[in-house]
Order: sequence, then structure tokens, then C-alpha cells
Amino acid sequence: MSALGNKKLFTPGPLGVSLTTRQALLKDLGSRDTEFINTVSFIRQKLLDIAGVSSHSFTCVPMQGSGTFAVEAVLTTTVPRTNGKVLVLENGAYGKRIGQILKVLGVENTVLSFDEDKSIDVGVVKDHLRKDSLYTNVSIVHCETSAGVFNPVSKIGALVKKYIPDAYYFVDAMSSFGAVPLDLEDSNVHFLVSSANKCLEGVPGFSYAIAHKESLLQCKGRARSMSLDLVGQYEGLSKNGQFRFTPPTHTMLAFKQALIEHEEEGGVVGRANRYKKNNAILKDGMKKFGFKELVNDNDQGYIITSYHYPKNSNFNFQDFYARLNDKDQVIYPGKVTTADCFRIGNIGHLYPEDMTNLISCIEEVCRDMNMSLPLVE
Ligand SMILES: Cc1ncc(COP(=O)(O)O)c(C=O)c1O
Repeated sequence: MSALGNKKLFTPGPLGVSLTTRQALLKDLGSRDTEFINTVSFIRQKLLDIAGVSSHSFTCVPMQGSGTFAVEAVLTTTVPRTNGKVLVLENGAYGKRIGQILKVLGVENTVLSFDEDKSIDVGVVKDHLRKDSLYTNVSIVHCETSAGVFNPVSKIGALVKKYIPDAYYFVDAMSSFGAVPLDLEDSNVHFLVSSANKCLEGVPGFSYAIAHKESLLQCKGRARSMSLDLVGQYEGLSKNGQFRFTPPTHTMLAFKQALIEHEEEGGVVGRANRYKKNNAILKDGMKKFGFKELVNDNDQGYIITSYHYPKNSNFNFQDFYARLNDKDQVIYPGKVTTADCFRIGNIGHLYPEDMTNLISCIEEVCRDMNMSLPLVE
């Protein structure tokens, strides 16, 4: 165990963060303090830089709460109150969650479902939009964290632009933003959300939307929620740089440091390189042991990997998990509905040596569970 008693989190979140990021939040600052207001302004601009968009066309609106709060904020704010209809493209739990939020909001929607272990099929979406294009909004998840699949955000964006040019295109990039390149303008993205404690490696506590400014302003008055009204939040911040309600001051101080470290690592490309290395070590090690991946290489990202439970009578996930946890290695249960799986993430403050150590721990745990390696089907 590390000096601070920390475990290594190979999960989709919460994720580990650097010591320097944690240290940055030791300071108490008031919400009207100039240092805090400057911190918020720095963060908003930096997130636009990471997104590769200008502050002329886009704005960043931070929102108190976990990632789901930003997802809900975009949906409640951007769907027209009359004749609003959302096309939800889903291939996993987070896409389905968008459908659930819309149900709660009482917003008409069509959920187009795809297999959880495959990327969303562009051809099927195209055929659907050719027949039915009466949508005001379309949503997609960039990295569907429930299985680790990457979805074709740009190709779907091009279809939205062609078949429903007036619709807003919304991307949940919770587990990809900051480590998976995406050209927002080329991809016709109007709204994108992510949160502090994913690939940017801040501590949890707030989320944010990167919003096409003109589109955002068209949505004034549409929100069915006061606290989640993105336009309200934007207007509050524009007025005096302050949040409307108690801001996550400590979290934002930590996030500023996390953003500096992201830049020092080489921005999106640098972070992607580390995560790709982490992922390659994981995949190689697990393959040698005979564990089978759920998703094939073409559809799989480099954020989190799902593994089938091995067909070995000595395997029991709870036991496997607990033994790894005892070695301070935290993995995660699966989140797909069609197969028994577990997941291993490689984002957050994890480095190749952490992945190599995890692989050694998995080897020891398999030996202790009398599962001889390599596993045989
Ligand atoms: C793609 C995606 N969307 C939404 C969420 C929900 O975020 P939160 O749990 O922070 O509310 C997650 C969480 O992992 C996610 O991976």
C-alpha cells in the first residue's frame, strides 16, 4: 500500500489523481475571491483549448455535481418545449441513461438500440434518418464505458448535419474527453459533456458542457429545471464570473492543477499515448493468461476493457475482486446485460508500471484460486 493508504483504481471512476492535484485543494477560498474567479475563468478557457474550439463560437459551462448532472443539464436545456423529439443512439448503460432522463423529463424520444459489444452502426442510423428525420436533438455516447466501445461520433455528426441540419447533436464524452481526439466543429457537435474526474484527472465534484454558443443561447427559457439550466448557469457566470449557487471551490482548485499537468504531459495526444500504453500492457498480459475480451479490436477503445468470466470452475468474481482488492488493486464488475464480464480500466493516475504490477497481481490471484494459467476454454 502507498504511504497514503491509496489503492490503485482500475475502474471507470472515481479515479486516482496525482498527489500535486490533491494538494492543490488544501486551500479554502471564498466564492467571490478573485483567485477563485480567475481559477474558474482559467478552467473554462482551458477546457475550450482542449476541445480545440474558440471562445468566439463555443463556451464552457461548468455544472456542480457528477457527470450525469451535465448530461441532464444539456437535455433539460436544449430540447424545445413544444414538438421537441430526441433520437437517442445507445449501445450500453450510459446511452440508456439518456433515455431514462428523457422519460423523467417527459420528453418524446426514440431510442435506437445497438449491441453492447459493438460500435453504433452508421448504416443503420443513416437508414433510420432517411425514413424519419423529425428530430430536434440527437444524442450519442463517445466511449460507451459500460463495455469500452468507441462510437463513430464524427460519422453520425455528418449524418445529423445532412438529414436534420436544424437538430442539435449532443455527445456524452464523459470517459473520453481529454484523451481521445475529437474535432467538435468538423463533427457537427453542438453540446459535449464530461466531468472533472475522468481523463483530465481532477477530483470528482463537477461536470461541464462545451456548448456551441449560438445554439446554447437559442435554448433560453426551455429548461425544465432551475439548477440544471445551462443557459442560466452561463448567464450567471458571464455576469460576474461567479456560480449562481455554492461552487465546488476545492474541486476546482484541484482541477486547475490537473489541467496544468495535462498540458505538461502533452495535452490530448500525450494523455492518449499514456493510456494507450497502459491499455496495451493490460491486453497483452490478460491475453497471455487466456482471458477473453468481450469487444473486438475494431470496436474497442483504449479506456476500459471488458473480460468474459473465464470458464474455470474455480473462478468466482467476488473472490477474484476481493483478492485483488487485498493487494490494493481495484477492478470493476461488468455493466453489460448480455454476458458475465468484469472490467479493467486504465485511465486516471495510472502508469505503465501500475499496469505491469496489476498483471503480476492477477497472476498471483489466479494461482491462489487454483486457476492454472493460461486458462483453457
Ligand atoms: C459515458 C458516461 N456517461 C455518463 C457517466 C455518468 O457519470 P457520473 O457517474 O459521474 O454521473 C459515466 C460514468 O462513468 C460515463 O462513463
